[in-house]
Amino acid sequence: MSNYHIKNLEEYFQVYRKSVRDPENFWEEIAEENFLWRKRWDKVVEYDFSKPEISWFKGAKLNITENCIDRHLYTHGNKTAIIFEPNEPSQPAENITYQQLHERVCIFANVLKQQGIRTGDRVCIYLPMIPELAISILACARIGAIHSVVFAGFSSTALHTRINDSDCKMVITSDGSYRGGKTIDLKSIVDEALESCPNVEKVLVVKRINSEVKMKPNRDVWLQPLLDSAPIDCPPVLMDAEDPLFILYTSGSTGKPKGMVHTTAGYMVYTAYTFKNVFQYRENDVFWCTADIGWITGHSYILYGPLANGATTVMFEGIPSYPDFGRFWEVIQKHKVNQFYTAPTAIRALAKERLDFSAEYDLSSLKILGSVGEPINEEAWHWYNDNIGKKNCPIVDTWWQTETGGIMISPIPYSTPTIPTYATLPLPGIQPALMDENGNELKGNLVSGRLCIKYPWPGMARTIWGNHDRFRETYFSTFKNTYFSGDGALRDSTGYYRITGRVDDVVIVSGHNLGTAPIEDAINEHPAVAESAIVGFPHDVKGKALYGFVILKETGEGRLQENLRKEINQIITEHIGPIAKLDKIQFVTGLPKTRSGKIMRRILRKIAENDTSNLGDISTLLNPECVEEIIEGSIQIQ
Ligand code: WT7
Repeated sequence: MSNYHIKNLEEYFQVYRKSVRDPENFWEEIAEENFLWRKRWDKVVEYDFSKPEISWFKGAKLNITENCIDRHLYTHGNKTAIIFEPNEPSQPAENITYQQLHERVCIFANVLKQQGIRTGDRVCIYLPMIPELAISILACARIGAIHSVVFAGFSSTALHTRINDSDCKMVITSDGSYRGGKTIDLKSIVDEALESCPNVEKVLVVKRINSEVKMKPNRDVWLQPLLDSAPIDCPPVLMDAEDPLFILYTSGSTGKPKGMVHTTAGYMVYTAYTFKNVFQYRENDVFWCTADIGWITGHSYILYGPLANGATTVMFEGIPSYPDFGRFWEVIQKHKVNQFYTAPTAIRALAKERLDFSAEYDLSSLKILGSVGEPINEEAWHWYNDNIGKKNCPIVDTWWQTETGGIMISPIPYSTPTIPTYATLPLPGIQPALMDENGNELKGNLVSGRLCIKYPWPGMARTIWGNHDRFRETYFSTFKNTYFSGDGALRDSTGYYRITGRVDDVVIVSGHNLGTAPIEDAINEHPAVAESAIVGFPHDVKGKALYGFVILKETGEGRLQENLRKEINQIITEHIGPIAKLDKIQFVTGLPKTRSGKIMRRILRKIAENDTSNLGDISTLLNPECVEEIIEGSIQIQ
């Protein structure tokens, strides 16, 4: 298993060199040694980035749940697979063993079949972080139905757009969810969404908060009675390596969300391999990733990656501030967590609180700390290192994306020396390149450019659901024969990578990837709004926050403007969700435009960042006079 667990820097370089010299052989050995295949592949990898067409382990047959569950039963049946930590600390945690997980997934899969779901059908899952979320995902995978999980903080409009885009037949939801001291009525959000989804035939409803909900006859069914009467035996359906496993939406720089399609074998191999190496997972470790399963981080590193390794993974329903800011640390102490994986925005929020919140708890079980979602700033890195890791736990700053399926650039603990704010080195099998704006690769060290990946890796998305052209356009057309991530990065004198942030119109707010275009589309629906432009600006907890420049059809004054600000954020909440609300809204009479009518966001970004000393040449603008007015107005709302 030497390929599987890297132990020191020398070994990393050896393995890395091998993975680049002979990628086929490298991935073949990993696939051979660590998984259960029902039929072997004919070809390890085939690709053509110009189309793009990518296949891994073509011809192989497998079921991912057999790899994530069944094969552990013989040796680890009584081992805990999932520790469910509920929102309320006074409620007992639930330990679900591999045996119990197997049973619950099989029963759930039988319910799906009874309710008309067949291999290849799409099932939308809109659930809070409760065991049924994990179980329903795995139940879909067991029968080859394609799951499309929508984060349960998204609005009904965002939900119906996603349901319709992938033509889901079924929605799995709950009566409601707990969020700290509050409850949220998920079922009514689903009801509203489904008014615009004619093709949804069934809604399975989990009882979580025991609230009164309306059940639509012939469509809505309570889950529990179905589970109670379903048979326990459900053989896994054998899937082709390249059959879609799931769709997960991510926002892009234009309107519609992109349904990234991940396929079965490559995703399994890649998440399992990266999980094991980046977190140096050892038998009996307890791993905790604090993400929501509604994001790719949760798919890959709460569920598939850990379970493929037979690991124990924590699933947390609550939030870091409830009942107080010590909750994360209390959970680490309680479950003796060994690897802890969270986002810089959470670290910054917790670092603002009193230190005794963390000092009160025994964190000595921790071995490795992880960070994901956005660049981690130096201050947050040190706070994490000093107060949580007690200078004793390597911090893995992991760079990746929904599209990449798994971690791409990251230190390997005990092998790669870490430096704050550096994601450091590519994982084996990953061939990054930095490009200049003319499409030339920047060779050597001490360069910065656009971050691309030159060679396929098993975990990469294969297409955008229903829109392969957009897939090619977005990722494979900016630079020839290479995958373009949308991020900028620099490579320092030692070859370490530091991610510098998005180079397109996507803003990462609290680790959430938000396209500015869909938010602008939402605002522009307000009857008083003529036009708008949104940019990101630095924020001490969220990393980046959103700044909207809005042209009104008629200028309102004082109170009216305050009301409009509220209404604009209300519209955003309805269309996308509260995560996309604007922190600052400035009403302007014009937006800087090029002669072809494109908004010059670069200028707006500078103004939002309060850095107006060097706006560059604005004389070529169609309307340079508006810039002065915008700068003046911005000073008033800083
Ligand atoms: C974007 C992808 C991958 C899971 C979470 C987000 C940014 C992610 C890092 C990091 C700097 C990072 C990038 C990327 N990002 N991790 N360690 N350092 N930036 O997934 O929603 O698809 O967002 O998040 O800008 O492109 P996502």
